[in-house]
Amino acid sequence: MHSAPSYKIILGVTGGIAAYKACELARNFIKAGHEVRVVMTAHAEQFVGALTFHSLTGYPVLRSLAQGTSDLSATSHIDLARWGDLFVIAPATANFLAKARAGMADDALLTELLAFQGPVLLAPAMNTRMWDAPVTRENFSVLLERGYHSVDPVEGLLACGEEGAGKMAEPAQIFARAITLLQDSTAKPLAGKTVLITSGPTRNYIDSIRFISNRSSGRMGHAVATAASALGAKVIFVSGPVEERFQKSPTGKSIAVETGDQMLAAALDAFDEADFVVATAAVADFAPHEVSEGKIRREGTLDLQLRASTDVLAELGRRKRSNQVFVGFAAEVGESEVEFKKAREKLEKKNLDLLAFNNVSRKDIGFDVEQNEILLFSKIAEPVPLAKAKKEVLAREILLRANELQGKMS
Ligand code: CTP
Repeated sequence: MHSAPSYKIILGVTGGIAAYKACELARNFIKAGHEVRVVMTAHAEQFVGALTFHSLTGYPVLRSLAQGTSDLSATSHIDLARWGDLFVIAPATANFLAKARAGMADDALLTELLAFQGPVLLAPAMNTRMWDAPVTRENFSVLLERGYHSVDPVEGLLACGEEGAGKMAEPAQIFARAITLLQDSTAKPLAGKTVLITSGPTRNYIDSIRFISNRSSGRMGHAVATAASALGAKVIFVSGPVEERFQKSPTGKSIAVETGDQMLAAALDAFDEADFVVATAAVADFAPHEVSEGKIRREGTLDLQLRASTDVLAELGRRKRSNQVFVGFAAEVGESEVEFKKAREKLEKKNLDLLAFNNVSRKDIGFDVEQNEILLFSKIAEPVPLAKAKKEVLAREILLRANELQGKMS
């Protein structure tokens, strides 16, 4: 008989009257065959006793890091974070949202959350006025941009007697959302597929020690590699010189290159096995006609004659097979019809299926930041806006769309 998967759920409970509903939520998970471990704040214990959750889940509740009441080894304060498949915080109070946004870790719940690397689901609950406070909304939207998920509070009669939005969603609804998230995050739709990624800047040398390069941190490419790995793909990651943490894919093969020609050679080596090509690299566009031997002396002026360098993606595009999906990235300064037209031309010229367009003149997205906002151009449909989010979240979305496209082709 095929049995449903059993998931490990960390249930974080913060101090609001809706904490009693977290008991029902824990019951829902247990009844469906999942394991639940609860971590509570001191304020939550003023509403519901830890013994209630202990009895419901069969495990001691983590109440403080010093206390070590968890049956998990007390050696590490992040044991719970390592254990769970999903972190649900229900209820999530305004105070909790503020602390989580700030990255604070002054209790067991926040510490586990900070160390947790899987999907997080928030079920906010608070008085309407607190929910409507601009600072709460800002904290909440920053958490969503970072990739947290939410079951938003609903309208209703609140415990304080007021009516309005702020009531925690029903446990059944939170449960359903949690299961969908777990299924999505553990699904491997790209299993058996190979994703070839170019990332970071390249360098074109003027003499033995000087070069022309492009601005690029390699964050987006690394995010694509991380998302592709999580989706089960085999990753081949060709990266120019970037900070150590962005230099390698979490899984698969990583090849370090310096020049555009080296990037092309490495990409060509892997090309035959690639189902997807995702070009995030900022290949240095100009190269000196010739590279001077040794070091050019700093005397007078220096006239440099530059030529356009090899277009890695266009070269790959020429060899593209009909079942390969190509995704390019276009960093443009501005977002008017002029830039959009250029994006459409790039799609055609480089033989791409998708082109992720972003406006690097904005300070909040693009270069050197964790977030991006993309307009996804496609050969076959109108451009689709992908809302501002963590680069990894966007990378996942783009890969899933590329996979969908490939499904339609074959
Ligand atoms: N690209 C590439 N090799 C190059 C230039 C660009 O592989 N020499 C790839 C990038 O990785 C990106 C896409 O082509 O996926 C678009 O890059 P972009 O710099 O926007 O395009 P360019 O062709 O350089 O056009 P321009 O600089 O004129 O905007």
